[in-house]
Amino acid sequence: PRNIAVMTSGGDAPGMNANVRSIVRTAIIKGCRAFAIYEGYEGLVRGGPEYIREMGWDDVRGWLREGGTNIGTARCKEFRERAGRLSAAKNLIDAGIDALIVCGGDGSLTGADVFRHDWPSLVKELLDSGRITEEQYAKHEHLNICGTVGSIDNDMSSTDATIGAYSSLARICQAVDYIDATANSHARAFVIEVMGRHCGWLALMAGIATSADYILIPEKPASSQQWQEQMCQIVSKHRERGKRKTIVLVAEGAITNDLVPISTKDVADVLINKLGLDTRITTLGHVQRGGTAVAYDRMLATLQGVEAVEAVLECTPNTPSPMIGIEENKIVRRSLVDAVKLTQSVAEAISEKNFKKAMSLRDTEFSE
Ligand code: F6P
Repeated sequence: PRNIAVMTSGGDAPGMNANVRSIVRTAIIKGCRAFAIYEGYEGLVRGGPEYIREMGWDDVRGWLREGGTNIGTARCKEFRERAGRLSAAKNLIDAGIDALIVCGGDGSLTGADVFRHDWPSLVKELLDSGRITEEQYAKHEHLNICGTVGSIDNDMSSTDATIGAYSSLARICQAVDYIDATANSHARAFVIEVMGRHCGWLALMAGIATSADYILIPEKPASSQQWQEQMCQIVSKHRERGKRKTIVLVAEGAITNDLVPISTKDVADVLINKLGLDTRITTLGHVQRGGTAVAYDRMLATLQGVEAVEAVLECTPNTPSPMIGIEENKIVRRSLVDAVKLTQSVAEAISEKNFKKAMSLRDTEFSE
């Protein structure tokens, strides 16, 4: 029987608990032992029974709908250094773990991919320095790593949806609906900042779902003059047609085509100074990450948990590490290393102001 560990990493996302529950229970059903690594990579680096705990069937009861992650998460600096990864490898081996499933965003899965890449040299170093025995070395020469994508940002390539994105989207829409009522009452404009890091998915989809007047996202940048003129034209037209409220959604990563960040204050100043609108700013913040998981995320996290365990059990030492995604409503296995690379190349293209390339790379993830 295999000893399979699961860990959550990076920003929490609704549905992570459902994913852990599914992985733990599927592992048990398949005759394996299930472990949870608490506090993400930090727990992996620290190790020991406080951070690496065996999980039973009942330990995850009621986790399906719960928001956040009950096994904790952290953004860990030490794991970025080889010394941290060496401790992590030693801790996994000491706990007898031979497969690791990481539920996290692109940063966390990049970390998982580096760990996968380093594993052979890490275990060799542990053996050469006498920190593990020959027997442990033989048993742990290979580590199966699998990624499930948990992030509200929906910014990972090779999957149509990340676990948590639809819950966050629902929460944003709910918040915008609340704001709508007060905006309408006072005939005000609201500039609302939406999370998503460098990805505009949440802002774009929330904009469509709430019929926002204007949306600023990093993937479609314009010059300052262009977006200001376009926004004013559209908002004025809506007002002329009798609309009493104005909603502008700004992705937190919104930029101009010169890569200058666009803040909610920049946007509000334009609405005040050019259109004379009574304008307020709302930053939704971490409320977007809270609350229970919507049905879609519970379903996605559960099915992907089953697939992750099956993938780990089917992996041979030569199989590339899988990442579990969803494409056209089917749960799929994709190469973790390719997904990470593709995600990074979108960010690189944006930083090189090659927006066309960034858009076509984003399209790749949807059509491939
Ligand atoms: O990646 C999820 C996310 O919520 C992003 O949308 C946001 O930029 C970031 O995490 C906020 O990070 P923190 O919770 O560390 O402030």
